[in-house]
Amino acid sequence: MDTRIIRIIDKTEYSEKLQDAAAIIKSGGLVVFPSETVYGLGGNGLLADAAKAIYSAKGRPSDNPLIIHIAEPKDADKYALTSDVYYRLADAFMPGPLTVIMPKRDCIPSSVTGGLDSVAVRCPSHPIAHELIKQAGVPIAAPSANLSGKPSPTRASYVCEDMNGRVDMIIDGGECEIGLESTIVKIDGDSLTLLRPGAITYDALCCVCENVNIAPAVLEKLAENEKPLSPGMKYRHYAPNADFILLDGAPDEVLAFMIKEQREGNCAILSYDEELSSLDRSLTIPIGARDDLATQAKRLFTALREADKLDASKIYAHLPSLDGLGLALYNRMIRAAAHTIKKV
Ligand code: TXA
Ligand code: MG
Repeated sequence: MDTRIIRIIDKTEYSEKLQDAAAIIKSGGLVVFPSETVYGLGGNGLLADAAKAIYSAKGRPSDNPLIIHIAEPKDADKYALTSDVYYRLADAFMPGPLTVIMPKRDCIPSSVTGGLDSVAVRCPSHPIAHELIKQAGVPIAAPSANLSGKPSPTRASYVCEDMNGRVDMIIDGGECEIGLESTIVKIDGDSLTLLRPGAITYDALCCVCENVNIAPAVLEKLAENEKPLSPGMKYRHYAPNADFILLDGAPDEVLAFMIKEQREGNCAILSYDEELSSLDRSLTIPIGARDDLATQAKRLFTALREADKLDASKIYAHLPSLDGLGLALYNRMIRAAAHTIKKV
């Protein structure tokens, strides 16, 4: 398949440029679009065949459901059984990086939801994503636009590495602002279960809802045969080719260990910016200042892709804290590291 790539830099000119993209979506084709979190691989969320095409382009198992993207929070009523809790979340965080799981309506094909009777709904804030959904006039089903098992793409160049020749169109809208996928919550009556942490933090959710539970698989490895609350939790994610090891200890002791390891062997480091001058620059990728979690989130997936290109046998990084956005970083990093944590 020939993939058309369009670039939208000036955000005032996108409306016209998105007409073709919207027509492709409507007629059942696939378009990769930027969002504030990561790039999405979009298809018509009302067509069973579009969902099948998405699974096949991504190489994703078809029991792992897709998020549907809507233009306005109230559009959720057409596709899901909403509630008071949904509208409290929508008022606080939409449009933005929050996905809410609710019982689905019949118009959403079961191939979109991996056979589940619930559907995940998200209203993105990125102007190109918003305009594309509006012009398409249908909900856009979209997983992250990476090949299954690779880090989610935060730049169009990474989308092209994975998706060129597999989709009808790629919209290059520059680097994604947040860099980690949306926070996912499931509504259970008056309570929420946090299934995937993201830029809408646990503390922010607690301000809107009294009862927020964190699903065990967010922090820990699933036991053999344990059924996850979200199918995506059981698949290996974001795995670099090299062994990826997280170092748990006082920051200066972790840095001393990193320096020693680099002297002795061929290992790559994801470092804090402050540490760069102490390490071998050719094998070190800075992910942001120690206290700047937003920059670390924005750079993590790029750093994992670039670390893989360094041809090292091991990759080391600091184990993040669990506070604020740290929980989302921790969740992505322990999965990329297949839960390998070394105490220093
Ligand atoms: O930021 C994001 O959420 C990006 C952008 C493109 O919107 N999308 C994204 O989609 O990360 P994806 O498919 O890579 O991750 C969605 C996760 C999967 O782990 C899936 O298992 C889970 O959401 N999920 C979707 N529908 C669900 C449902 N009905 N019940 C439980 N989990 C669900
Ligand atoms: Mg994904």
